[in-house]
Amino acid sequence: MGELGLNKIFGALLATALGLMALMQLPGLVFGGEAAHHGEEHGEEQTLSQKMCGQFHYCVEIAEAASAGGPAEPVFDLGAALAAADVTRGERIFAGQCSTCHTITPGGANGTGPNLNNVVGAPHAHLAGFNYSGAMAATSGEVWTYENLNDWLKSPAGYIKGTSMSFAGLKKDADRANVIAYLAANTENAPAFPAPAAVPEATEGEAVAAEGETVPAEGEAVPAEGEAAPAEGETAPAEVPAEEAVPT
Ligand code: HEC
Repeated sequence: MGELGLNKIFGALLATALGLMALMQLPGLVFGGEAAHHGEEHGEEQTLSQKMCGQFHYCVEIAEAASAGGPAEPVFDLGAALAAADVTRGERIFAGQCSTCHTITPGGANGTGPNLNNVVGAPHAHLAGFNYSGAMAATSGEVWTYENLNDWLKSPAGYIKGTSMSFAGLKKDADRANVIAYLAANTENAPAFPAPAAVPEATEGEAVAAEGETVPAEGEAVPAEGEAAPAEGETAPAEVPAEEAVPT
């Protein structure tokens, strides 16, 4: 009876000790005890993201995905911009920035610049009666497509060197799209806007290709993770007793 009682007490103490050890281990498990211990030892040289990367291998893939999505964004999609264009705003911009030199009503008088009625789809220097610059006249074989108008209005002198249109250009993509939509609204049988899908398709094509590149990369990462997972499984139990050994 005496032996049994002692055993019971000893057993209870052991159980309590084990329970306490488990409890002491708990915050470490929750808050990353490994990192905390090692942080003390190595002077917190690990950043949080590095810890995350150490514990969750997909952190690298997130960074890759972000950089892959980055360069595709700045591509200006004229088709999408025109589809979203606001003709009323275009009219306002025209009134504020173009009407000093241009009329746009049918048969409107030429000013410093030519009348711009029916200009979309027309050849460069589209009005026979207007005194165009030699530079503009030299390009009369070209047509005012939406793309050309966009380039022209972005930087007239950049598009046609030596043009007599002294206008700095509309730097904002939306402003140009709105004005071009307004020019189209004042063009009889204006050609259809370029499909918004055309440019995005190109970028999506790149994106798909890029994704196509990242997919095999991810495919590589998956087996890597597959390898890492069992490795972690092996190291985890190995490190836990090691850490227990430090305090005791
Ligand atoms: C300071 C006067 C001036 C302003 C402001 C101006 N233009 Fe012009 N524009 C001209 C002149 C001059 C030409 C002819 C250029 C040449 O012959 O080289 C021209 C030509 C053009 C043409 C080509 C016409 C054709 O028949 O080929 C378009 C399109 C055009 N302007 C649109 C615009 C729009 C849109 C704006 C406003 C955002 C604008 N312009 C602002 C003076 C101006």
